[in-house]
This record gives sequence, structure tokens and C-alpha cells, in this order.
Amino acid sequence: MKFYIITGTSRGIGEALATQLLSESHHIFCISRTINQELIDLATEKNNKLSYLPFDLNHLNRIEQLFEEIFKTIKHQSSQVEAIYLINNAGMLSPVAPIERNHADLIIENVQINLLAPMIMTSNFIKRTQEMNIDKRIMNISSASAKYLLPSQSCYSTSKAGLDSFSKSVKLEQVNKAYPVRIVSVYPGMIDTQMQAEIRSTDSDHFPHVEQFIQIAKEGKLQTPEYTAKKLIDILLDQQFGQTALIEELQ
Ligand SMILES: NC(=O)c1ccc[n+]([C@@H]2O[C@H](COP(=O)([O-])OP(=O)(O)OC[C@H]3O[C@@H](n4cnc5c(N)ncnc54)[C@H](OP(=O)(O)O)[C@@H]3O)[C@@H](O)[C@H]2O)c1
Repeated sequence: MKFYIITGTSRGIGEALATQLLSESHHIFCISRTINQELIDLATEKNNKLSYLPFDLNHLNRIEQLFEEIFKTIKHQSSQVEAIYLINNAGMLSPVAPIERNHADLIIENVQINLLAPMIMTSNFIKRTQEMNIDKRIMNISSASAKYLLPSQSCYSTSKAGLDSFSKSVKLEQVNKAYPVRIVSVYPGMIDTQMQAEIRSTDSDHFPHVEQFIQIAKEGKLQTPEYTAKKLIDILLDQQFGQTALIEELQ
């Protein structure tokens, strides 16, 4: 049995990832604040294993408990654990405005969801799997915004750039481990999800580049979540996964 822990499965890329990973030989743990009943129904219909764990990643101190629950389930099937994968996909864009206009609560939430939660998830994942001689991989869904900066996106860009540095640092730590965890940050492209809709609905007074994003959508240049999920799964399951800590383009 292969186990997948995926955050942000209520919609968008995360939902598409979980849908495509449903299989007889997989057990998927889905994490988001909102339960995705369609996904649960689909897994039930196909007789596939899916555990939905409604959880707010702002509760950083409860992530350890969440992992306790997940690994209890995994250990129940310990004779069959072939691989464990973690996909830190949940993310938030806001606040989108010059930094002096951003409320402290939103700045904190942005860094918690995009950076601190994946860091603590990774810490728990490695702690609980370090003695396991199996295939172990972590894919952090980052963004090209980490590299290509725009005004009014300082929180998002900074948290994603932090995520990339984190992936690179943990990769270095894992090099000489007996049973290393492979870790990669990936830029998924521009995808037609709620996050893009949110960018387009931003006030031009707050975000001077909003028209550029409206135009990209109008020209049909956004990828579908399904296409993106397929490419991300190809990357995750590739034999070369982890050779480089940052993948900036989906092939
Ligand atoms: N769409 C793009 O063009 C694009 C481009 C580059 C990178 N990305 C990255 O791709 C990833 C997925 O984005 P998406 O476009 O699919 O966004 P989305 O449609 O807005 O979905 C975001 C997901 O994150 C979850 N999430 C947000 N806050 C959460 C919280 N506090 N606790 C738990 N889960 C939370 C949401 O679930 P709930 O609201 O139910 O909690 C939802 O399932 C993100 O990391 C994003 O930064 C997207």
C-alpha cells in the first residue's frame, strides 16, 4: 500500500491530485478546512481508501496530533507500507496590497499556511518515518511568484521563497541519512482555480498588475487543475525525484 498525505484537497489542484491518485493500492489522507464530499463519495464508489481529515492549518500546534492520527492508521497496515508521500499543496494568496496596508492577522496567516505549516508537516513526517526503509517523498507546491516578484504580493512571494529555501535545506540534511526522505519544491504554472479568480478580483488600487492576470485568463492561457495534477504526479513518482530541490517548470 502507498500512502499519500495531501493538503488543500477541497478544491483546485489538491482536489485534482487526490482524484487522480485514487487507486486500489493507495490510501489517501486529505486535509483542508472544508470536507470534499464529492471526493469521499468517489472513493467510496470505487472502493478506494481515503481518509478525510478536516483541519485548519492555522492551528500549527495541532499538526503533531494530526500526524499522530495519520500514522496510527498507517501503522495498522504496517506490514504493507510500500511508500509514504506528503504533498504540501494548501496555500493562500492574500493579503494582496502594499505591505503598509496589510493587516497583521492576514500577514501572519499567509506565512502560517504557505510556510510554517509545510515546515511543521515536514518535521513531523521525517521524525515519524526516519527509521522506515521505504520510499519517502515530500513535494512542496511553491510558486513562480517566489522568483518573479510583483508589487502587492510581498507576503505570498516571501512565504513561497521561504518554502523553496526550506526544501533546499532539508534536502541537504537528508543526504547522509540511512533512509533519506526526498524533497522538492515545484512551481506549478498558472492554473484556473479559485486562487486565480481571487487575483483577478483584486482592486487595481491595491494591485496595479491586476489587468495582466485578467488578460491571461481571457486569452485561455491558464492550465486546468487536472492537467497540472497529472504533471505533478509524474514529477512526484519519477525515479529522479529529489535530485534537484527546485523544479521551476512542468515538463
Ligand atoms: N492557481 C495558480 O495559478 C497557482 C500558481 C502557483 C502556485 N499555486 C499554488 O498551488 C497550491 C494550490 O492552489 P490552488 O490554485 O489549487 O488554490 P485554491 O483553489 O485556492 O485551493 C487552496 C486549497 O488550500 C486549502 N487551504 C487554504 N487555507 C487553508 C487552511 N487554513 N487550512 C487548511 N487548508 C487550507 C483550501 O481548503 P479550505 O479552504 O477548504 O481549507 C483549498 O483546498 C497553492 O499552494 C498555491 O499557492 C497556484
